[in-house]
Amino acid sequence: MPGRLEGKVAFITGAGRGQGRAHAVRLAEEGADVIVTDAPAQVEHMNYPTASAGELAETVRQVESLGRRIVAGAIDVRDLAGMKAFVSDAVARLGRLDVIIANAGIDITGPWHAQTPEIWQTTLDVNLTGVYNTVLAGVDGLLAAGGGSIIMTSSANGLKAGPFNMAYNVSKFGVVALAKSLAMELAKDGIRVNTVHPGSVDTPMGVGARDGFEPGREENPNLYGMITKWMPGLIDPSEISNLMVYLASDESKWATGGAFVVDGGLSSY
Ligand SMILES: NC(=O)c1ccc[n+]([C@@H]2O[C@H](COP(=O)([O-])OP(=O)(O)OC[C@H]3O[C@@H](n4cnc5c(N)ncnc54)[C@H](O)[C@@H]3O)[C@@H](O)[C@H]2O)c1
Repeated sequence: MPGRLEGKVAFITGAGRGQGRAHAVRLAEEGADVIVTDAPAQVEHMNYPTASAGELAETVRQVESLGRRIVAGAIDVRDLAGMKAFVSDAVARLGRLDVIIANAGIDITGPWHAQTPEIWQTTLDVNLTGVYNTVLAGVDGLLAAGGGSIIMTSSANGLKAGPFNMAYNVSKFGVVALAKSLAMELAKDGIRVNTVHPGSVDTPMGVGARDGFEPGREENPNLYGMITKWMPGLIDPSEISNLMVYLASDESKWATGGAFVVDGGLSSY
């Protein structure tokens, strides 16, 4: 039986590990070729590491072992010129582009006053402007293909603010506004734009961000209690990839401007 994404090419940021790698592998299993990027160096102010070159190489190995083609690059999502040059070269090599998954992100947690202007700026630059840059780097490919699917990874915190996560909350709410704005304007070009809202996922971010809540605990134990209640367990990245396959495929051809939630109820109370 042919895969659900046979003949398609997808561009995925932050694919060195975690959800991004899971999406690359899952889409490849369904027949897609992939273009992937991850950070070339540690992003400043974070309290957990960004992916290494070795981790990105492991994503390449896993996709190639499925018999699919992959083009990988170490490019920061904040580097618009670098992203554009890399994606246009990769699209020329793989022949087309049908899907953009803007997945790269960071989460620097702590009480609001500990989130310095520098942390605020870095978070918005990576999580919001980085998503915009990802669209700018890939949209010509989708237009040339006669349409496609743009999927932006927001968060449960893009629907409901989480405590001790101010800059992240703002960036992830912003992603929703960006997706809805583009969904309206790109519909005429056959391009769909949706957001995905994971809960707490079992990745270095999920674990690192949770550990970073500790400073807020001393300051406001009531809010800390809310967080632990929301985190009974961590979601496996593959659960989010299943939704990505649906949104990347023609099965979701009427879905645009939507906010798709896989959060174990995190944003619903
Ligand atoms: N893990 C969670 O609990 C959770 C919950 C909701 C939403 N999300 C979102 O899911 C997405 C994927 O996160 P994850 O859970 O896989 O965590 P992760 O930290 O494992 O993966 C994020 C990836 O983005 C990369 N990255 C960070 N800054 C970058 C930059 N400037 N340029 C290029 N790449 C960069 C990292 O190196 C890493 O490989 C993120 O947008 C995150 O905000 C995660």
